[in-house]
Amino acid sequence: MNSKIIKILKKKNKSKIICLTTYSKNVAEAIDPYTDIILVGDSLGSVLYNYPTTRKVTLEQMIEHSKSARLGVKNSLMVVDMPYRTYANKRIALKNAKRIMNETKCDAIKIEGGSSIIKIVEYLIKNKIPLMGHLGILPQSVKGKFKFKGKKTKERNKIFNDAKLLQDKGVFSIVLECVETTLSKQITKSLKIPTIGIGSSQNCDGQVLVLDDLIGLNETKTKFVKKFGRVKKNISQAAKSFKKEVLSKKYPTKKYSYN
Ligand code: KIV
Repeated sequence: MNSKIIKILKKKNKSKIICLTTYSKNVAEAIDPYTDIILVGDSLGSVLYNYPTTRKVTLEQMIEHSKSARLGVKNSLMVVDMPYRTYANKRIALKNAKRIMNETKCDAIKIEGGSSIIKIVEYLIKNKIPLMGHLGILPQSVKGKFKFKGKKTKERNKIFNDAKLLQDKGVFSIVLECVETTLSKQITKSLKIPTIGIGSSQNCDGQVLVLDDLIGLNETKTKFVKKFGRVKKNISQAAKSFKKEVLSKKYPTKKYSYN
């Protein structure tokens, strides 16, 4: 097993796991000293390309962004999302997973779903693809508004059983997206592998956020997103200062010219 995955597994019940998304090299470089896992998520569809859902994201987009991110990831475990329809059956899934692993040199792959994709999960793991699961809200399957998961008993049981099933088949951790607080606690306590929460409370073994949201580059107002920065404002401020200095001929001075 990849030594970085072993490190992540050992953190269970000891120390929180820090995971962030990125889609490019410079950002990966900036966050890598502070993360255990860097995820090249298919959220790039909505965050960068303004797609209404992640379903339009292609394998090629994931590969190109991951290749860029790879250049900046040194210490963290790098995980890449398999986009919609790229794991429609076992054969297609393995071909595409191998392509992602080979071309991006990532450490692991993430796919969305539980019992409905369990044969695919089993097949990928049997063929030595390290896998991260994803339960709760599954953005590739949602039509319309996102609602948190685990309010009703039937839904709670399904997510809980799916988590157990994924663990039994060999995933090394599971992202829980917008899972109700007591359910995320129950799942995290019952599993030997770590859970990584997004909008799923303190009860998970780790936390993940979309970087553009937490740095304030993406102006989302999602309940679970705390803004840790104001990067969009900083960019506007820099552009404004540049414009002012160019118009007033303050920039470029001799110092910034070839003489
Ligand atoms: O695509 C993504 O960025 C994700 C995270 C939100 C977990 O799946």
